[in-house]
Amino acid sequence: MSRQPLRLAVLEAERILTDAGVASPRVDAELLAAHVVGVPRGRLPMVPLVDPPVVDALRTLVHQRAQRVPLQHLTGTAALGAIEVAVGPGVFIPRPETEAMLAWGLAALEGIVEPLVVDLCTGSGALALAVAHARPDAQVHAVERDPVALSWARRNADVRAAAGDTPVVLYAGDVADPTLLTALDGLAHLVLCNPPYVPLGTSLPPEVAWHDPPAAVFAGADGLAVIPDVVRIGTRLLREGGTIAIEHDESHAVAVPALLAARRVLTGVADHTDLTGRPRFATARRARFNPHAPLRT
Ligand SMILES: C[S@@+](CC[C@H](N)C(=O)[O-])C[C@H]1O[C@@H](n2cnc3c(N)ncnc32)[C@H](O)[C@@H]1O
Repeated sequence: MSRQPLRLAVLEAERILTDAGVASPRVDAELLAAHVVGVPRGRLPMVPLVDPPVVDALRTLVHQRAQRVPLQHLTGTAALGAIEVAVGPGVFIPRPETEAMLAWGLAALEGIVEPLVVDLCTGSGALALAVAHARPDAQVHAVERDPVALSWARRNADVRAAAGDTPVVLYAGDVADPTLLTALDGLAHLVLCNPPYVPLGTSLPPEVAWHDPPAAVFAGADGLAVIPDVVRIGTRLLREGGTIAIEHDESHAVAVPALLAARRVLTGVADHTDLTGRPRFATARRARFNPHAPLRT
């Protein structure tokens, strides 16, 4: 068996993925090659020749990717913040779009010692676990309704805790449940949520349409079926001065801030863009009690 140039296998992979309409064929080809070889992508040039079984394994993954199986299902992981989580069928793949909200949330916690953080709609647990990793002094709670997604979150939480991160407290729960997390009422310094928010009928790439759980993506005809519940429970969980951030569809840059602004105890409502400049998350702060403020009805 003669060894083969990895560079040629990657070029062939890129061609197949281009023909299949994959959005970033070169990046995906290199990431799959790195996964098969077992090196970071940046070290691929250090691996000029590989054995034929490596080329066969890469071809198998490339053909699956050409069928529009998500890259992260093939490599088994997705990154958010400074951590990676395991993902696969039955759980939403964390997206780069969520990085900006995570960064905003971590910035909001600066100067707060031992903050209490709640992640609603946690999916794989990525947001909660990224916060727990970045802030070892934080007490992080996370809620998920879907049992399959929750089992991915449990697995990821176990791995992160074994790696030394502060354990995240996971709950099976529905943000529509008015009794959810009542023991934490008025205690949260930060509430984060990346809920389902895509309007039903929206055309999506096959990776999303065929592989993300529909209940993780769609939220009714207008995409706003879940966010009002998140605003309601988030407001209840926040302590005075605590902040909330909710990810939303780019068409909701007015609607979601308006839902936050409609809660009288929330102030400083703002909308923010993601790393590509699209409207992506709305934030607000729970007002501090002012005994001198005029009474409002
Ligand atoms: C867009 S995914 C986000 C997952 C994760 N936060 C992330 O950023 O990768 C939304 C998650 O919310 C969960 N979900 C949907 N409706 C829910 C509800 N009413 N209560 C709790 N979780 C819900 C879905 O199962 C899914 O895991």
